[in-house]
Formats: sequence, structure tokens, C-alpha cells
Amino acid sequence: MKEHFINESYEKKINELINQMTLEEKIGQLIQIVPSLFGAFDETIAKLINGEISYDEFQKLDRNYHEDKIRGGVLGSMGGVTGAETSNRLQKIAVEESRLGIPLIFGLDVIHGYKTIFPIPLAEACSWDLEWMEKTAEIAAKEAAAAGIHWTFAPMVDISRDPRWGRVAEGSGEDTYLSSEIATARVKGFQGEDLTDAQRILACAKHFIGYGGAVGGRDYNTVDMSPQTLHEVYLPPFEAATNAGVGTFMSAFNDLNGVPCTASRYILTYLLRDKLGFNGFVVSDANSIAECVEHGYSRDRKEASRKALLAGLDMDMSQGTYLQDLPEQVENGDIPEASLDEAVRRVLRMKFNLGLFDNPYRTNQEIEKKSLLAPEHVQAAREMAKRSIVLLKNEHNTLPLKKKLNKVAVIGPLADNQRELLGTWAVTGDPNDVTTVLSGIEGAVHADTEVAYSKGCDVSDKEETDIDTALKVASDSDVIIAVVGENSDMSGEASSRMELDLPGRQEELLKALHQTGKPLVVVLINGRPLTIPWVAAHADAIVEAWQLGIQSGNAIADVLFGDYNPSGKLAATFPYSVGQVPIYYNHPRTGRPASEVKFTSKYIDGPHEPLYPFGFGLSYTTFEYGNLNLSSSEFTKNEKAIISVDVTNSGNQSGEEIVQLYIADVIASRVRPVKELRGFKKIMLQPGECKSVKFELEMQDLGFYNEEMDYVIEPGLFKLYVGPNSKEGLEGEFNIIKQ
Ligand code: BGC
Repeated sequence: MKEHFINESYEKKINELINQMTLEEKIGQLIQIVPSLFGAFDETIAKLINGEISYDEFQKLDRNYHEDKIRGGVLGSMGGVTGAETSNRLQKIAVEESRLGIPLIFGLDVIHGYKTIFPIPLAEACSWDLEWMEKTAEIAAKEAAAAGIHWTFAPMVDISRDPRWGRVAEGSGEDTYLSSEIATARVKGFQGEDLTDAQRILACAKHFIGYGGAVGGRDYNTVDMSPQTLHEVYLPPFEAATNAGVGTFMSAFNDLNGVPCTASRYILTYLLRDKLGFNGFVVSDANSIAECVEHGYSRDRKEASRKALLAGLDMDMSQGTYLQDLPEQVENGDIPEASLDEAVRRVLRMKFNLGLFDNPYRTNQEIEKKSLLAPEHVQAAREMAKRSIVLLKNEHNTLPLKKKLNKVAVIGPLADNQRELLGTWAVTGDPNDVTTVLSGIEGAVHADTEVAYSKGCDVSDKEETDIDTALKVASDSDVIIAVVGENSDMSGEASSRMELDLPGRQEELLKALHQTGKPLVVVLINGRPLTIPWVAAHADAIVEAWQLGIQSGNAIADVLFGDYNPSGKLAATFPYSVGQVPIYYNHPRTGRPASEVKFTSKYIDGPHEPLYPFGFGLSYTTFEYGNLNLSSSEFTKNEKAIISVDVTNSGNQSGEEIVQLYIADVIASRVRPVKELRGFKKIMLQPGECKSVKFELEMQDLGFYNEEMDYVIEPGLFKLYVGPNSKEGLEGEFNIIKQ
């Protein structure tokens, strides 16, 4: 996609500007500072720490510090600035008071909404609803743009097969195909068709690359993977984002096969620019250039900044390494000025593409006021939240509940909580805007239904329990709705977990509630797959509700009381035990597939199957699959197969089904996955209705990288599965034949 962002008239203007710029001004374009954080690297922080100045004085000094930088034309970007008034004030200094008037670009982590907080990305991924994910990104962009933001550090398109890694919450789960489709939808949603549209913002594909493959699921840890896995599993979502026109990339913290991504020429130039054809700019992750020293990959920050710049890393986020360490090295020739110019060119290119030179003030306070939490945004948050819920169990049709009951007991540490439902990375979200599960239920039931609440225990504090009160509240109820899970800071960055069970005494609470003999509905609030075998075996119904944002309570109530028939399917496998991790459906075939036989690939002390497989999710209705049909039994490499299947709603409620297509390459010159997702369709069916669902499968897409790293499509037998999840489905086969 070489043509993205290259516009002759812009390129001419960029060259003219570069010709006029001083060395400081050039380097300034490569710097992003975060106010009140950048000061942390200045002597003012020392004064604050030593008590020589008050916090107010510190903020003033800090503000003067970065305003001076803007005025001096030696600052290109700011992170963490929010609000139309502030961003316009700072922009005015850049445009009207700096020598060349180059506008600033304001970036922020707008990960799942700005003020209208949507479900965490992993939850949204479980909707498999690309249109809706595009829409929530569009709304996030609209609100953020109204608040003066030009650029979001999203979407995170890292594949992760390890739920211990806290950042699974921020991505689209374990599957490459699904994640690539979602990456496209989110980039389109943030950026739209025209970057100069003041209601859109620049997106950022992150973290390039391999970050989700951290050994042991420990954040920031080393990543060691074959080039084939890198190209087949981890790269495609980034490629999809590039093809969708993403304007920026963020380098990952980790090293990949021994080289920190931030300073890897292979990654930032060969893979990203030569192979993917990316023309935008690359920002480092926070402090990741300087961390090359701690990696032991650079003697000092000077060497780190040189290696990073020469590798193709354009903008330094929040640390100031480029600011301090580049000038001398360009002056003494260690860094060719042409390399510096190239980085500056890329940054300016995106500023031109955003239209910032023509329209540096893209918002005002009036627009901001109107946009944030606009009623249609809040309504969309409820829609997206409903679609993100996955029904994991529903014994004896416990759900949906009747709205008219004598008494509903709502129990659990997350039942009457606002903050934790926002999930990770909701920096601009306000817990006061969140509907709790309790209030959602209160709003949904009939006026005669009593809703009684008890917390029961804390999420993680083992001392803080009141199980007895919870039991009293539950004892004369018709049904218990237990709302348990994780706090929002238990997932996200730097929140890897060793155990994946319900923290604290929550399982003990559930066991006690189960003893009452009342129907037990468990609502899970969490940022990652959990290991919940006891719950899976004993609860009557399980609603996986993740962290659904401001409309959590209403959306959960919509599902519990049948106003919405759940349709989500897991975007990540739920392990039975943490010892099975990493566990993912598309694993390569082993010579001894797990079975009851002793000498096969499994553990001796637990099941070899996960608790819930990838793609799994129930509905209040049932679906039947039939008539799997292929347009032919043989195809050449350049042909495509048309696959059709009939899906019937065999239950008595209307509902949506996500029909999934998997393939398996039966014999190949490299061991291939047992199956891989290659298509999905979300359809709505009325009771008794049957629809024919069609897929197109390009044989070109069925290749892989061989031992020599050539992409090959090998003739031979392929299996095909079409069904409701990665474990069940109709089976077919076809051959790719030589031409
Ligand atoms: C995270 C990034 C984020 C950045 C800026 C880093 O710590 O890894 O994903 O965009 O901070 O807030």
C-alpha cells in the first residue's frame, strides 16, 4: 500500500520546511512530551521531591517549561493533553509564536472510548461484530477529537495466547484472522475516509511486534519466536492495519529474538516499511528507547537513541532521549543528517495528512460539550456492551429471568461497583457515568420484584468478608445473581497474573451461595480468560460480561432478563487450569495428539481440553447446521471456493449466530495448525427461519512460510469445518491441485 499518505504537494512543502529547519527544530519534531511528566526529567522534579517548591509551583514551572519549548519550535507532539481549551491554547503558541509555525500533534490513549467508555477491546472482540467495532472507534474518535486529541495510541493488535499477560484485555484475543478483521474495522473507525475530517483521529497500530508473546505471560518480558510464527501469526493484524491506512505504529517494549523492537532495523525498516509498505511514522513506547540500555543492547542513552533512529524509530515518547542525545551525534556525523530528515519528513507528512497546517484548531469548547457523552453515544455503548457478552452456561434455561419475581438477590463485590466496570485504560472515563449491575437490574425488573443486595466479600482482600449477610439476603430469594471477577487494575499494562482464578474469597462466596440450593447465575466481570472449573461445574448459568464500560449494568440486565438474546463468542480460549497456558485452538499438530492413551501430549493431572474453546458462546435459542456445500472439490492456487451452509434457528426466540469457517492443511512441508479460522458471518434468524450462509475462500490465502521463509501454497488435501465454535461443526474437504 505504498500510495498511502504520499501526496506530491505535501512532499514539496515538507522539503521546503526541512530546508529551513535548524537541527533543534528538526529534533523537536521527533519529541513527544507529557506535561507534568516531562518535568520529571527536569530539575524541577528534584525541587518538588525535596520540598523546595509546592505542587502548584511545580505545575507552573512545568507548564512554563513546555510552553517555552513549543514557542521555541523544538517540540513536535504532546501526550496526555486533554480538553479543547488547553489544546487550542498550546496549539496557538506553536502556530503563532514559533518561528516556523509547525502545529503540534496531540496524542492520547483512547483505547475504548474517550468519555463514553465502551467495553474493553477483548470484550468487543467477542461480538465479532465488525460494524459495531468500527462504530465505537468512530465515536471514540469523535469525542476525543472534540476534546482536542489528534491521535490515539490504538488499536492494540497484538495477538496473545497467554491470559496471564494482563494486556490481553486491550487486544482482540488469540486468533490472527479475527484480529486482522478487527484491526481493519478499528483503524477505519478512528480514521475514517479522510484524515482532514475534524471528527476523526489518527490511529496507531501497536505494539510492533511480538509483545503478546512475552515468555511466561509476564509483561515486558523477552520474546523468542520463529520467523514463521512471526509472519503467520503476529504480523497479519499489523499488515491489515497498514492496508487499512493506519497512520502510525508504536514499537514494542520487548526484544524479539534478542533485539529490542525499538531499535531493530529488521523490524522497523525491513518488516514495516519494505515489506508492509508503511509510510506513516513510528513512535516509541514510553521510555522504550532509553530502556535499550537496561536491555544491555546499548552502552548508554546516546547509543540507544542512535540505534533507534537509524533503525527507523521516528518519535521518542515521553522520555527526552532524542532531545538530549541526538544533537551532538548529528553534529559530529555519527548520525547522518539525511536519516534525521527522513524521520522528520514522516512526522510532518502525517501532520499534513491530518490537515493540521490548514486547520490547526479542529475543535472548540462548544463542540466538546456537545460531543462528550452525547445520548446517541451512550446508546451505542449499551448496544456494543450487549453484543460483547458471552453466555457460557445456561443449564435448564435458567436464563432469561422473568422480570416479575418475588425477590432477586444480587450478591458480590462487583455488583454495586462503578469504577471496576470501566476496565483498563479508561483514563478519561468517569466512574460516575457507569451504571452498576445492581442499578441495571433494579431498572429492568417489574415494580413488584424485590431486589436485595449484599457485597459478600471483597474482590481481592481476603480479610474483608461478610458471607453470612450475603447468605441471609440470598436465603429467601428466587434467584441469586452473583457478580464476581477482577478489579480493572488486575488486567492491562503491568498486570500479569500467576493465577487465573477468581481472586480473594469470591469462589468461597459462590460455594456458600450454591449451598442455598437457589438457582445461581454468575456474572463475570474480568479483563482476561479465567480458570473457573468449579463455577463451570456448579453455577446454573454463567454470563461472561467482561468490563463493559459505562453501560455495563444496563447491558447485563438486558441479557439477564431477555431483552437481548446473547450472541457473543469467545475470542480467547478459557483454560481449565493455569498449567495449560499457553492454550489456543490453532496449535500445530503433534505426533501424539492428546487422548486417553498414556503416551500422548497432555497432562496427567487434569483435562487436556480447555474449559471453553475459542469461538464458543451460547444463545437463548438453538441453531442447526446443514447442507455444507462447496463449489468444487478441486481448486487451483488462483481460484476461490464458494462455500455455503444452511443455518436454522431451531429454538423459539429470534437470535444471532456467528457462523465460523475453519480450515486445516492436512499434509504440508511444515507442520500446520489443527485448524485455523478463515471466515465468519454474523446472522440474525427468526424462530424456524433458515438462511444460507456463503463464504468465499481464496486459495491464495491458504499458504504458509516454508523452511526457507518463502510463502507457498502447497497442493494437497484441505479439511474444512463450518460451525458454531472451534470444536464443533460440519466437515468437508477439498484439494488444491497443480495448475
Ligand atoms: C503503553 C502504551 C501506551 C503508552 C502511552 C505505555 O506504557 O505500553 O501502550 O500507549 O504507555 O500511554
